[in-house]
Amino acid sequence: MVSTPAEVAQLRQQALAQVAKAQEADEVEALRVRYLGRKGSLTQILRTLKDLDPAVRREVGRLANEAKEALEAAVADRLKALKLAARAREAARIDVTLPGRRPPLGRLHPLTRIMAEICDIFLRLGFEAVEGPEVELDWYNFEALNIPPDHPARDMQDTFYFTDKVLLRTHTSPMQIRVMEKRRPPVRIIAPGRVYRRDSDMTHSPMFHQVEGLLVDRRVTFADLKGVLTEFVHQLFGPEVSLRFRPSYFPFTEPSAEIDIACVICRGEGCRVCKITGWLEVLGAGMVHPAVFEAVGYDPEEYTGFAFGLGVERFAMLKYGIDDIRLFYDNDLRFLRQF
Ligand code: FA5
Repeated sequence: MVSTPAEVAQLRQQALAQVAKAQEADEVEALRVRYLGRKGSLTQILRTLKDLDPAVRREVGRLANEAKEALEAAVADRLKALKLAARAREAARIDVTLPGRRPPLGRLHPLTRIMAEICDIFLRLGFEAVEGPEVELDWYNFEALNIPPDHPARDMQDTFYFTDKVLLRTHTSPMQIRVMEKRRPPVRIIAPGRVYRRDSDMTHSPMFHQVEGLLVDRRVTFADLKGVLTEFVHQLFGPEVSLRFRPSYFPFTEPSAEIDIACVICRGEGCRVCKITGWLEVLGAGMVHPAVFEAVGYDPEEYTGFAFGLGVERFAMLKYGIDDIRLFYDNDLRFLRQF
């Protein structure tokens, strides 16, 4: 039994030394129990003070209480130090020289890319880009374009109607009227945007994109139209790609033409995209009809002009070798990541 101040002092020294040397939290805890627990040696001394000779009781009591406080503080400090050391060891294990993980990069949709490329070419040729509404009035989509209500040409484009007079535009040609009713010639614009038709198969989509072109001035001829479109196709696909102008019919142009380009998927040999013909129709075009000029108050005796409307998806299919238009709208990342 400890009973002298010297013995208490020695116990204190021994306990503090052991705590300072402990390498694990468990070890520190065991020491705390050994000295400060219910049956710990310091606890015992404090409990049995009453049995001591009154001459040393006070001194032993004071020293034992001080030793208890010092040991409690030492235990707390040691536990904290061990925790910090463990954290530092953990950090040292992280290899900061390893390469990081790259976040996946987004990219432009192939239609966005081809649209930008198409517009760029026309902007370089001196056209200005304008945009207009997708919900359109019958007047702009049909009537002002020389397509009166009972005209059979309305059947060429199956239309989504909201009401008798309000519809989803079936082509970008209404932008011809919207621009001409606000400006005087010379006019030189392109109008890119979405259009809608009740139409769906490998080369037709119910929503697709067109780029309209319109050039009006004095003495504009069909030769100008051919020159601009040939230059455009050659800039987009290269000078070796052939195109052909076929006579066609649109109520808002006279004469009218459809322009095909040699199918770049099968190189003209015939495939399912070009329906074995070797050619793919990509553009409608023609000289602006005098009735259209009259609808916007231009004098057809003074001005002539050409207009064209191209299908953006068709160009994207040719440019990227894609044989089904629906792939553009499936949002399949395996497809989209290839661009
Ligand atoms: C027109 O839409 C006329 N507005 C084009 C025009 C403008 C002619 C100016 C004269 C003057 P068309 O219906 O042929 O024409 O369509 C033009 C192009 O859009 C087609 O050559 C084709 O490339 C594309 N196209 C037509 N329907 C679809 C569809 N459902 N899905 C994808 N592309 C289509």
